[in-house]
Formats: sequence, C-alpha cells, structure tokens
Amino acid sequence: MPSKKKVAILYGGRSVEHGVSVNSARNIYEFIDKDLYEPLPIGISESGQWYLTQGVSKDITLGKPLGLILDTRNSGIILLASGDRIKMDIVFPVLHGTDGEDGSIQGMIKAIDLPMVGTGVLGSSLSMNKVVAKKMLKEHGVPVTKFLAYRYSDRSKISFESIVNKLGMPFMVKSASLGSSVGVSKVSRKSEFKKAIEDSFRYDNELIIEEFIQGREIECAILGNNPPQASNPGEIVISKNYEFYTFDAKYVDPEAVTIQVPAKLDKAVSQSIRKVSIKAYQALRCEDFARVDLFLTRRGKVYVNEINTIPGFTNSSMFPMMWKERGISFTELITKLITIAFERYHNNKRVERGFESNLKF
Ligand SMILES: Nc1ncnc2c1ncn2[C@@H]1O[C@H](COP(=O)(O)OP(=O)(O)O)[C@@H](O)[C@H]1O
Ligand SMILES: [Mg+2]
Repeated sequence: MPSKKKVAILYGGRSVEHGVSVNSARNIYEFIDKDLYEPLPIGISESGQWYLTQGVSKDITLGKPLGLILDTRNSGIILLASGDRIKMDIVFPVLHGTDGEDGSIQGMIKAIDLPMVGTGVLGSSLSMNKVVAKKMLKEHGVPVTKFLAYRYSDRSKISFESIVNKLGMPFMVKSASLGSSVGVSKVSRKSEFKKAIEDSFRYDNELIIEEFIQGREIECAILGNNPPQASNPGEIVISKNYEFYTFDAKYVDPEAVTIQVPAKLDKAVSQSIRKVSIKAYQALRCEDFARVDLFLTRRGKVYVNEINTIPGFTNSSMFPMMWKERGISFTELITKLITIAFERYHNNKRVERGFESNLKF
C-alpha cells in the first residue's frame, strides 16, 4: 500500500475570521480520510505565529512553534525547538479572510514550491477584493450590482447625496476585502450613513458601496478545473429579524437562517445560475473549488455578489452541504479536493521556469 500523503491543514490566521477558520479546520481534520492521508494541523495564531498543534484547537499557542524553510529543494516547515523538518506532501489552507484567502499565504506556499489545495495567488487576490472582482466580472459579462468604490485617503470625497443619486436607497456599505459580513452595513436613512462608513474603514483601507438588491440569497458550489462542475444551487433563507445576512446570522444565532439545499428554483433558473457561477469562477481565475454567492430577484434577475475561494467547512456551511446533495460525502469531498489539487500541481509543471538566452548577468 502506498504511504499516506501528509496533508498540512493550515488554520486560524491573522484575520477577523480566525474563529470561523478553526471551526472549518476542525471538520476537515475530523473527516479527512485517515486511510489515505495523515493530517498535520498547523495553527496560525491571531498574531501570526505558526504552531504544530495537537489536533485542531483554538488554543493554537499551546502547540510547538514552527518556522519556514525557504529553499525549494528542501522546502517546508521546521520545528523551531529541534530544527527538525516537518515533511508534508500538500498544504490545505483552511483560512478565511486576510492573509489566508487573499493570496498572501498562497504566494508563500508557491514560492517554496509545495502543492496546495485551492485557488492560487492571482485568483485569491482578485476574488478577495470586492471592487476588483466586480470590475473583472463585469468585463466578462457576469451580472453584478451597481457599485461605487472609495479609498480611505479619499474619504472626504464621499457624499451621501451623490451616492443616493447614483444608487438609490437603501444601499450597502462594505469593506472591500473582508468576509463573514464584518464591516458590512445596510444604510436606509441618512443618520446611519456616517457610522456605516466608519465601520467599513475600521477594517479596511478601501470600501465598496452597492445598490441594495432585494432578493433571495443563492449559493452555488464549484469543484474542479477543466472543466469545473457546479452543484445544484442552495438557498439561505434569512429570518425577518435580520435585515441581511449578518455575522450573527451566519455564526451566532442558530435560529437566524434556514438552509435549503437544493434551493426551490425552476429548472431553467437553476441551470442559468450554475452557468453564470462557472463563468464567474473562471473569470476570477479560481482553482480547485469555490463558492459563488448570488442574489435572485423576484423578477428572476440574477446577480453574482461574491466568490469565496475558501468557503466555510463548518457544520452550518453550504459548500459541503451542496456536494452532499449531489451524493458526495464530506470525506469524499476532501479526497476530491486533494486529488484535484495534486493533478493541477503536476499539470502546471509543464510551464518552463527558465529561459535560455544570451543575457549576461
Ligand atoms: N448589494 C447588496 N444588496 C443586498 N444585500 C447585500 C448586498 N451586498 C451584501 N448584502 C448582504 O450582506 C451580506 C454580506 O455581504 P457580502 O458581500 O457577501 O460580504 P461578506 O464577504 O462579508 O460575506 C450578504 O450575504 C447579503 O445578505
Ligand atoms: Mg458573503
């Protein structure tokens, strides 16, 4: 029997979504097929230190401190105390938000030439920034909401009246590069405006303001590369107590939402959502997997809201649920992700790194 592949599960991270990542990673650690893989839990503390932990634990700093070996012939991670190299065959970043989902960690793993599950540098950073992502999606003919974008340094130019003129009211104010609804507010009257802007800038140097779409919240799970497959769409039905899908509605209040997988949709609408989701995934250079979030209005208009390149794997997360509906268990899903990632890594070896020339240096 071939030896088990060592899968480093990276979790935690310097992000407002640290806790969500711990919950996601706990499930991956529990459900990964232990006959095929040996999971190595690597926690990143809230201040950014790396530790080899005993299972996946919220007490990351109780683990053994780790460092990186920046040498592609002998790349990887070392135990700081002993200097021993920790061997791994592939890295699975189960990190949400800043550093983990935005291409930073992906770039580091690429630079030390380790195989990795999920979207690489370009797709991660394109998808993470809601302004850049919307511009790219528009360019590819994927329907998105009307929006305006502002940098912190230009905050004095933000005018409530001009926003209302362009987008109407209510509108949404969101940090450009965050997730889990942190830094997201709905503005329905002028008195809510200042706080919404301050809140978004608190977490980011850029914000996006969007017209408010009154619609159903639909999500579609994508898996694979050539070609990617789309799940049946699912729906998050949010209780009337919430104005939108807030952090509390997502993770704290178990009564806040009802999840419907598959969503009750006409066949044609479901088909068009799957098609547009794949288009969005490809437009944003996503790899291996992602979750595409959309709005569907009463009149049947579809908008792509955002793409999550590392969607949640918590107990209430849609991505695994949507594949379960297609007959793929959590364990099989993890195996598929790792297999797809290895395949992509090997296919990419086709690309030459060097270039023979007469350049003198
Ligand atoms: N343009 C919009 N119209 C209506 N609701 C929105 C809009 N943008 C965001 N929302 C609401 O806010 C939630 C969080 O916004 P989203 O863009 O998905 O950010 P995050 O990355 O934090 O999940 C969405 O799930 C939705 O409920
Ligand atoms: Mg979202």
